Amino acid sequence: MLSQVLLGGVLAAGLPRAVLGASFSVPAQRVTVPGHVTLPPVANCKSPSGIASTREFDDQGFWFANFTVGAGENLILLIDSGSTDVYLNPGIYTPSSTSQNLNENFTITFETTNPDGSGTETISGPLYEDIVALDGTSLTLPAQILGTVTDPVSPPSFPHDGLVGFAGLSQSAINSTSWFQHLCDHGLVDECRFGLAFETDDTGVQYFGYVDEERFYGDLSVAPVVPNEEWASWIDIAYDGKVIEENAWMVTDSGTTIIFGPIDSVQKLFDTAGIQSVLTEGSPSILTGYFSCSNPPTVGFGLPSTGNATEAKATNSKVISHKSTIFNILPSQLVSNQTGDNCTSSIVGTDEFPFWLVGQVFFQGKYVDHNHDAETMGFAYLAN
Ligand SMILES: *[C@@H]1O[C@H](CO)[C@@H](O)[C@H](O)[C@H]1NC(C)=O
Ligand SMILES: *[C@@H]1O[C@H](CO)[C@@H](O)[C@H](O)[C@H]1NC(C)=O
Ligand SMILES: *[C@@H]1O[C@H](CO)[C@@H](O)[C@H](O)[C@H]1NC(C)=O
Ligand SMILES: *[C@@H]1O[C@H](CO)[C@@H](O)[C@H](O)[C@H]1NC(C)=O
Ligand SMILES: *[C@@H]1O[C@H](CO)[C@@H](O)[C@H](O)[C@H]1NC(C)=O
Ligand SMILES: *[C@@H]1O[C@H](CO)[C@@H](O)[C@H](O)[C@H]1NC(C)=O
Repeated sequence: MLSQVLLGGVLAAGLPRAVLGASFSVPAQRVTVPGHVTLPPVANCKSPSGIASTREFDDQGFWFANFTVGAGENLILLIDSGSTDVYLNPGIYTPSSTSQNLNENFTITFETTNPDGSGTETISGPLYEDIVALDGTSLTLPAQILGTVTDPVSPPSFPHDGLVGFAGLSQSAINSTSWFQHLCDHGLVDECRFGLAFETDDTGVQYFGYVDEERFYGDLSVAPVVPNEEWASWIDIAYDGKVIEENAWMVTDSGTTIIFGPIDSVQKLFDTAGIQSVLTEGSPSILTGYFSCSNPPTVGFGLPSTGNATEAKATNSKVISHKSTIFNILPSQLVSNQTGDNCTSSIVGTDEFPFWLVGQVFFQGKYVDHNHDAETMGFAYLAN
């Protein structure tokens, strides 16, 4: 989920100081697929201590891994590249002997808490500093700030036990960089980057400190990150392999289940792709799309955007790709609901925010590298 969007930044043009989130209205429940934790093969030539990987699992469009927080082991936390802080649901936190109460409270408001883009939720509670470690890896921080939700007590704010954020400082509600950034600051990872590889069978892997080149076809297509806005970039919008809109501003978010876009952009896409659109006016107004399940349209995003690729070529950039590659949303991921042959599009128009919010339905079937060192994001289709 997206947390905070600050006034003043590039992202904030015309926005009220708002906290954005998405769709964690699913009921909290235990899943039957346990997260299975593995280390990368020793054959990897980099220092085994500076890299790690962990298995993740998908539960109703959210991705989870097991963490130790304080004295609590095997806590199942939502992996959220759209927000920055660590939060635990009410009653989950067990302090370790080194726990420190910071005698401060946090308050954070998530908007778009329902899958259709409506709903807001404010959570608050005390802040602590304690151990936060990714189970099965050497990625352990002895004193990470974390928020424990005390209000509301129910329903639980997040599915399972809580959430760990991987975005930049601008998305923090407590003016703190992420657990991941702290790993980098403490030299626990070789390179300050992480990769997400979400498969379509509800399993995935997250890579820390390196890129697993074996996992994807070809090279990563590399796009610039919006300055000070991890993990936002620019995209082209494409139908059937052809770009219909260039250089759209977008935010990626593993903690958003679907994809939102500005209503006018989404309308153009639906019209071009022959997707039936239905506008529901309100605050926010929502544009929903329907298409024939037996004949799904091919919709995708160009990365880097045409403008960014052109500039990279002109300046002979060693970092950003010189040509844009269109990555299609897998047909199975373009469907958010189905009634007979009537499929509801997982791309939804909203006037809630002026950018594309690209959630996990786009990530599925792709490798998405988040490179803090170079301030880039890299994309490729997963191998096999
Ligand atoms: C993750 O935690 C859950 C329960 O908290 C547990 O059932 C599961 O076995 C754990 N997975 C691993 C790989 O330890
Ligand atoms: C934090 O919130 C609790 C409950 O509302 C309140 O009792 C406490 O005084 C607050 N602490 C601080 C430091 O503001
Ligand atoms: C955030 O923290 C930094 C130090 O880490 C401090 O310089 C800055 O003033 C803080 N900003 C706010 C808004 O509290
Ligand atoms: C990427 O494109 C955006 C919008 O077209 C532009 O504002 C930004 O400066 C570009 N960044 C780079 C590194 O090319
Ligand atoms: C999905 O479709 C079914 C059947 O038409 C409907 O009952 C349900 O409310 C829909 N779910 C969502 C999330 O829209
Ligand atoms: C698909 O279902 C939606 C919601 O019930 C409806 O508004 C729309 O007209 C249907 N489209 C088709 C082609 O049946």
